[in-house]
Amino acid sequence: MTETTQPPDVDSEGLRSHAVEALARARWRTALLTSCVEDGELTAQHSPLMSPLVWDLAHIGNQEELWLLRVVGGRDPMRPEIDKVYDAFEHPRAERPTLPLLTPAEARTYAAEVRGRAMDVLERAPLHGEPLLDAGFAFGMVAQHEQQHDETMLITHQLRHGPTALTAPPPPAAPVTADAIAAEVLVPGGPFSQGTSVEPWALDNERPAHTVTVPPFLLDTTPVANGAYLHFIEDGGYRDSRWWDPAGWRMVREHGLRAPLFWRREGGQWLRRRFGVTEPVAVDEPVLHVSWYEADAYARWAGRRLPSEAEWEKAARFDPASGRSTRYPWGDADPTPEHANLGQRHLRPAPVGAYPRGQSPLGVRQLIGDVWEWTSSDFLPYPGFAAFPYREYSEVFFGPEHKVLRGGSFAVDPVACRGTFRNWDLPVRRQIFAGFRTARDAAEGDL
Ligand code: AVJ
Ligand code: FE
Repeated sequence: MTETTQPPDVDSEGLRSHAVEALARARWRTALLTSCVEDGELTAQHSPLMSPLVWDLAHIGNQEELWLLRVVGGRDPMRPEIDKVYDAFEHPRAERPTLPLLTPAEARTYAAEVRGRAMDVLERAPLHGEPLLDAGFAFGMVAQHEQQHDETMLITHQLRHGPTALTAPPPPAAPVTADAIAAEVLVPGGPFSQGTSVEPWALDNERPAHTVTVPPFLLDTTPVANGAYLHFIEDGGYRDSRWWDPAGWRMVREHGLRAPLFWRREGGQWLRRRFGVTEPVAVDEPVLHVSWYEADAYARWAGRRLPSEAEWEKAARFDPASGRSTRYPWGDADPTPEHANLGQRHLRPAPVGAYPRGQSPLGVRQLIGDVWEWTSSDFLPYPGFAAFPYREYSEVFFGPEHKVLRGGSFAVDPVACRGTFRNWDLPVRRQIFAGFRTARDAAEGDL
């Protein structure tokens, strides 16, 4: 089984401008997320689950300094005394407000100085000859890292109390078609190529490409909507241990859970808080802010299950016509605003059934963008995995305690989202922009 041939190799000037553009777009977003509130809000701890925004800002600069200036550029550390403060493994998030952090002004200046020097390094570096430089990998990795923290900072904004600081136009509506789309589609059984060995900026955990055989299964055409999830709530889903993994049931009891995070019932109506605004829950929008345990319980209540990671990727990348795996559900072309809700252009997922141009050959919609989708799978290395360029990106997180999420949310930039991209988190986490879709094994009559 193979991946599709990649677009022809771009020349090194093309690669350089691609890297410049990806880094600039990330910095534009970082600047917005750290300038839309007053400096006091940047140093405050809005949730023990999150860092102060000013920590993310300086950490973004520090990682860029480490990889682009020191490793690629061979330069000396600019401020060696701050390295430990911005090492995510030295200090858990809850502890970061107590560290001797750079002030907002210092953090902005530091990140800007690093960026200026990184542009000098990029102008001179050969973009081939070793894995860190090939196709500008280190620059792509640093742009992805900044965009990942931009999603993290957007989560902090969502957790923050007080009036809204961010606004964006609503996402497109779902098309009104005469023939409504099917609720589920059959994904044929058999081998497909999972992961990638050719995507230039794919991170270590996405590699290498390898053949996986998946039995036939049925998958929801769209993510599960709030309206469907409300039926689970109203049917007493949060009060019935039958649907829950034992650890999930303990979480429900201990925290008195009865709905997704940020939901509140008032005057016989479900409301939700979204970036400082309280509004009625939109029934046609994908459910958001549910833990893996809630997704798993809903699926069991519905007589279904979560898809495995391999099933998700087969639905997203396998082209039955050619037998090959494409980069995205719609083919090999980079995402445009017509394909998917990505990049914080909208600050919410689009209604289920939106983005018909982004659907897979089998007609599965919204696999990319809108909401991260929980899968049933633990975060584990692919056969032939090699940590690159550092163990702390993926390797130290492999194991049964983390579940895989796929597809990206409205909050993630296209540079950090593709058909092979793997995200992971603890099954209790609800503040992330995560929803899910459900699956079932194919039965005799489905084939
Ligand atoms: C891949 C999103 C789980 O935010 O913990 C950021 C990305 N790694 N800095 C995270 C990451 C190092 C990571 N996730
Ligand atoms: Fe980081």
